[in-house]
Amino acid sequence: DTVRIIGAPTDYGANRRGVDMGPSAIRYGGLADELHGAGLSVVDDGDVAAPPAEARDPEAEAPSEGNAKFLRETRDVVTSLADRVAAALDDGETPLVLGGDHSVAIGSVTGSARDAEIGLVWFDAHGDFNTPSTSPSGNVHGMPLAALLGLGDFADTPWANASGLAEEHVAVVGLRSLDDAEREAIHDSDVTAYTMSDIDERGIDAVVDDALDVACAASDGVHVSLDLDWLDPREAPGVGTPVRGGVTYREAHFALERVAETDALRSLELVEVNPVLDEHNETAALATELAASGLGKRIL
Ligand code: ARG
Ligand code: MN
Ligand code: MN
Ligand code: MN
Repeated sequence: DTVRIIGAPTDYGANRRGVDMGPSAIRYGGLADELHGAGLSVVDDGDVAAPPAEARDPEAEAPSEGNAKFLRETRDVVTSLADRVAAALDDGETPLVLGGDHSVAIGSVTGSARDAEIGLVWFDAHGDFNTPSTSPSGNVHGMPLAALLGLGDFADTPWANASGLAEEHVAVVGLRSLDDAEREAIHDSDVTAYTMSDIDERGIDAVVDDALDVACAASDGVHVSLDLDWLDPREAPGVGTPVRGGVTYREAHFALERVAETDALRSLELVEVNPVLDEHNETAALATELAASGLGKRIL
């Protein structure tokens, strides 16, 4: 099996410099070695172009964006990322996308869902279910799931809407921070959402199995989107929006091992690693280890 690494070095969605260095930090953290060690063959496709926000042309026409920041830049990056992800799948490889902030998922998932019916597992402290009109921050990294499902302002946004993704094939795991409008929107949707309380009550194994059942009901495989703020900030300090009370190192590995066991993994992404906020690149290194588990690394 060949894994194709695709970097998406954005910070547009997070309003926080540093997360654009995520792909470098994860590569420096030993990603290729870790994947080779898991018996995988690896090609690195480099990064998609993501010019710094300061280089934006103030005259250029913006897509309609409410209070969403840098939506135009986000559109450009996710459009080229989607093409790269779709090309990797066409070549029979497994795309591994490195963010960047979580807005890059709009590209990973639309690319993965091109001409395919996919499921989606979203490991995250946050719901990322805001739209430009509900977002309190204007940061697009809080909106990608709503964008992919074509909710609210995103109903007519062709580059955001993932045609091959249905709400009933989406599971969100690990929630512990939601804005009021997100809570309502998740309730009104057919997305299946598991909070940290669900994990505390039922255990990581039962929750992850149920989430994978939801996503694996789609016929063409599963995209896994891993926001490193899913983990507790004590284990993953290098993220822009940490929330206490996240999953442990062991729970995270277990979850990704379960992903590998389904044999349904179609594409994977690791987002929100910010080396400027990290301690000795440990969050990036952790991301490489979790990727290896998700892609099939076995101890015995
Ligand atoms: N809910 C907040 C917002 O919309 C935080 C989003 C955090 N998202 C993330 N991918 N880290 O601004
Ligand atoms: Mn998050
Ligand atoms: Mn089951
Ligand atoms: Mn997120």
